[in-house]
Amino acid sequence: MQHLKKIFWLLLITQPLVRNPAMAQEGEKLFKQNCGACHLMGKRLVGPDLTGITDRQTEEWIKAFIKSSQTVIKSGDPEAVAIFKEYNELLMPDQNLSAGEIDQVIGYLKGFSAPAATDAAPAEPEAPMEFTDADRELGQALFVGSTRFANKGASCISCHNVTNDQVMLGGHFAKDLTGVFGRMGAAGVAGIIGASPFPAMATSYANAPLTEQEVHALTAFLEHADKVSAEQTARSLYEPFVIYGGGGLIALLLVIGVHWRGRMKQHVKRDIFARQLRSN
Ligand code: HEC
Ligand code: HEC
Repeated sequence: MQHLKKIFWLLLITQPLVRNPAMAQEGEKLFKQNCGACHLMGKRLVGPDLTGITDRQTEEWIKAFIKSSQTVIKSGDPEAVAIFKEYNELLMPDQNLSAGEIDQVIGYLKGFSAPAATDAAPAEPEAPMEFTDADRELGQALFVGSTRFANKGASCISCHNVTNDQVMLGGHFAKDLTGVFGRMGAAGVAGIIGASPFPAMATSYANAPLTEQEVHALTAFLEHADKVSAEQTARSLYEPFVIYGGGGLIALLLVIGVHWRGRMKQHVKRDIFARQLRSN
């Protein structure tokens, strides 16, 4: 009996110690999976640095924002509207997490309270990504699909367009990416390409992950596309059709025409040809 009591107390005392790290770990995992492409603790990425968010906002506010940021923004909440404007009206997608999972994520965020003003070390500047011409070329080839991805994922152009004279008109299923680099920066763009938070895009690469080199090259290409975008002519939806489709049709008609004339003169086949005409 004495023994059992001891074990009981031991369990009671150690339980929170055992459980909390596990909870925090789960929160961290959920955060990395669902938010990590856009949020990094301690640094601005696609979205804001969430350090100290639990000190600035109530849990209700954070929960509502995670569930549907647009609902909070459209309700006119001044802080939500301000942060949306600050981030160039970039959409934070609704998060498909259960209430329990959101609690775990918030639990994880609580571990990052605002640093005291006195010991706030200045953030170390990131070494800027270096892009070479070879990176840009590879990125463009991967984007349009003339070079296949190592793991055979879909080319970006099947869903996205980029306005660039070197590139044919792309898909309109998803956003135009011409200026995305300017809005998100290198880390943001690379984060989204490497681990997309958008379900439609993520599914495309779930079984065909891009390599680090491919992500780097695509980022280089998008940086370039953004930089030169002012000098590019926006293409109409019909232009490629006219050039490739229309031109192709004329060429095909010429080939058929030449071939057809040849056939008419071939006496051997004339009988067959005449029979065919009659039976029609
Ligand atoms: C696709 C990128 C993206 C993903 C994924 C994303 N966010 Fe965001 N988040 C943003 C952007 C951008 C903003 C800035 C507000 C805006 O533009 O709507 C933001 C703002 C926020 C804010 C408000 C910050 C403030 O200072 O007021 C919170 C809280 C937040 N995100 C939490 C999360 C959590 C938690 C997750 C994961 C469950 C997540 N976000 C996933 C892009 C993202
Ligand atoms: C199956 C379609 C699909 C494919 C393939 C795809 N994406 Fe996406 N992508 C999306 C969707 C959907 C979004 C969410 C934004 C939207 O609705 O346009 C998105 C968003 C993005 C964004 C963020 C845009 C923004 O302004 O918020 C970037 C950057 C991006 N994709 C890059 C790429 C790159 C690079 C490739 C090729 C490796 C690629 N995508 C392939 C569907 C796709």
